[in-house]
Amino acid sequence: MLRKLAKKFVKTIYSPPQTISPTINPINTEDQKFSQELMAILSKYGIIYNDKTYKEILKNLLHTQDNKTLTKVLREIDNADKFTDNDLYWEYFSARSLLSYTAWDLFSSHCMETYNISNPENEPCVLEKTGLVTGKLSSSLTQSLLEAYQKAPIITYEDSDFADNFMFNPWIFGDCKKEFNQFAVYRTSTDLLKDLLHQAIETLASEFEAAIGHYFNVVGIRAFELCPLTTSIGPHIWHKDSHPAGAKKLMLYLSKTNQEVGSTEYETYQGDIFRVEGDGGEWVLFSNSRVKHRGIPPQSQNRPIIEITFMPALKTDIRINDTGQNAICPWFPTSDVTKGYFSTENTIMRCIKRSLQLGLENGNVANASDNIDNMIKR
Ligand SMILES: [Fe+2]
Repeated sequence: MLRKLAKKFVKTIYSPPQTISPTINPINTEDQKFSQELMAILSKYGIIYNDKTYKEILKNLLHTQDNKTLTKVLREIDNADKFTDNDLYWEYFSARSLLSYTAWDLFSSHCMETYNISNPENEPCVLEKTGLVTGKLSSSLTQSLLEAYQKAPIITYEDSDFADNFMFNPWIFGDCKKEFNQFAVYRTSTDLLKDLLHQAIETLASEFEAAIGHYFNVVGIRAFELCPLTTSIGPHIWHKDSHPAGAKKLMLYLSKTNQEVGSTEYETYQGDIFRVEGDGGEWVLFSNSRVKHRGIPPQSQNRPIIEITFMPALKTDIRINDTGQNAICPWFPTSDVTKGYFSTENTIMRCIKRSLQLGLENGNVANASDNIDNMIKR
């Protein structure tokens, strides 16, 4: 969005006078370049259009009934255009983000209603009050997880590593990608690691549901170790993740954790700072897009951690899906909405409150484009 705004600003300042021939207008040249790239992608799938502009081609593409091909083509557009200044691509990205955040907000509310109706005895959930809940795995399971982690092959963080139809971070390229591979070492989520994590979550699933107030699906896993003394970048700055508001993250600390060897700090909704400390096996489940948090980098040795992302669902499914290093969550909720219940009043009120919260946080509710930008950043 910043690049887009910057580009619009530059275009405003340097727009050519009316007398210049349109054939040398830089906007047309640029559009021609993007449309040629798009036609090259489409021709790989046997799709040939005679349209001249990127916009016309995309409009035409929307009429296709072949969803599988459309998914593949849109995926290639994401891979090709997320590094570019293609305005139309960023319009699409912004609109998709806005729709996604809205859909997830509605769906999260629906999932909380469904859980409440199925579990009327459940107390108001802890996460709505504080933003996080903590616990500890058994020492034997922690040891097995640590051994499995250490056996897992090391991989490079790749920006293109995200599943189809998954939201992703488009800003990880160039120096940013280099930094991602400097502040952490990433590991493959092996079958052994996933089996052990499945065991861990299976025993905790009911506790998690009660704490977060809804059923959930596992939509992502990352196993990595933060490197020493990487203080000013990435996860070591106070931040909220860019997931939709219903997302939850489970952080599993596999080794000793404290101020010296490294830790994570979380700011609860009450403003208290919680720092993880222990001998290994500690876990924190938290609302990662609403709770501010930061890593405390280790002083000398890498600190291994496993991060699992949950999204609200109408029925809990704890199968561990490795959806990629750069996967955030599915763009849109895909659970079976024919089951469960829907409370219009509660859902509307919750979304109104969320909108108000976003407006208050960012100080501008009147400018629609700013609001879109702010929602994306959350
Ligand atoms: Fe984070």
